[in-house]
Amino acid sequence: MEKLTEKEMSPLSSLDVWEDDVLSRYPEPGIAKAKDEFRVYNDAEDNPVREFYRLNHTYQTYGNVLAKKANFLQFDKKEMPWWSAMEYLNTLVDESDPDISLDQLQHLLQTSEAIRADGHPDWFVLTGFIHDLGKVLCLFGEPQWNVVGDSFPVGCKFSDKIVYPEFFAANPDNDDERYNTKYGVYTHQCGLDNVHMSWGHDEYLYHITKDYLPEEALYMIRYHSFYSQHREKAYDHLLNAHDQEMFKWVDKFNPYDLYSKSPKPPVVSELKPYYEDLIAKYLPATVKL
Ligand SMILES: [Fe+2]
Ligand SMILES: [Fe+2]
Repeated sequence: MEKLTEKEMSPLSSLDVWEDDVLSRYPEPGIAKAKDEFRVYNDAEDNPVREFYRLNHTYQTYGNVLAKKANFLQFDKKEMPWWSAMEYLNTLVDESDPDISLDQLQHLLQTSEAIRADGHPDWFVLTGFIHDLGKVLCLFGEPQWNVVGDSFPVGCKFSDKIVYPEFFAANPDNDDERYNTKYGVYTHQCGLDNVHMSWGHDEYLYHITKDYLPEEALYMIRYHSFYSQHREKAYDHLLNAHDQEMFKWVDKFNPYDLYSKSPKPPVVSELKPYYEDLIAKYLPATVKL
C-alpha cells in the first residue's frame, strides 16, 4: 500500500462519527429520533462516513488482517496498569467539538453503568467498561478504518448486507478466486474461531483479554461491531451452533453500547474505586498493548 495521506488516515473528525452513523442505521426501537439529531450530509461526495467506508472496504483484505495480527498480537507496544490504559485511550479526543461530545472514558462508563443498573453479573459490567479499549490502535498510528467500522469476515465473499457494499469492488480480494466465493478459505459452519475478521478494535481487545474473561464476555468484545451478522444474519453459513448460542450475549450487549449515551457525563472519580476493584478481580495488574 502506498503511503496514506492525512485524509486517508483520518477521514472522520473523530471515531464517534462512525458510532453516530451506526446509531442512525439502527435506531433504538420505539424511540423516534428527530432527523436533525443525526449529522446530515447534502453531498454524497462530501460525506466523511462514506469516504471512511470506501477506505475501509478497499483496504481490509485478508493480507491486511494477517499483517496486523502479526504486528499487534506481539503486544510489544506498551505495558501499563489497566486504569492508566483507560486514561491513555482517553487522550483520543474529538477535535471537532471537544466540549460537546463525551470522551471515550465517559462512553465506556455510561455503557457499563447502564449494564450495572440492570443487575447483570459483574464480568458483564467490566466488559462494558473496557469494550472499546482496542481503539488505542489509533494512538499507535493506525488509520481509522483499521480501528473502527462494522467488522466482517475476510477470506470469503463480502456480504451485500454490509453497509456500502459497492465499495468492495475496489478490494483486491474481490477479484481473487481464493477469497471471492461464498466460503472462500472456510468451510460450511466451520465456526467463527476459524474465521479471520476485518482488523479493528474488537479483534485486538479480544486477544488482549482472552485468558481472563468468561467466554460470553469474549464474544461481546470480539463481535460487537459485526452488525452484518448480529443485525442481518448474513454469515449463518460460517457460524456453528455454539457461535449461535453465544451470539445471544452479543445481542444482549449491543443495546448498551448503542443506546446508553446520555448527555449527563458520569463522574469518573466517584466510579473509579468500583472499577479498580472489578479490574483487580478479573484482570492482571498490567495490560500489554
Ligand atoms: Fe466499539
Ligand atoms: Fe462502544
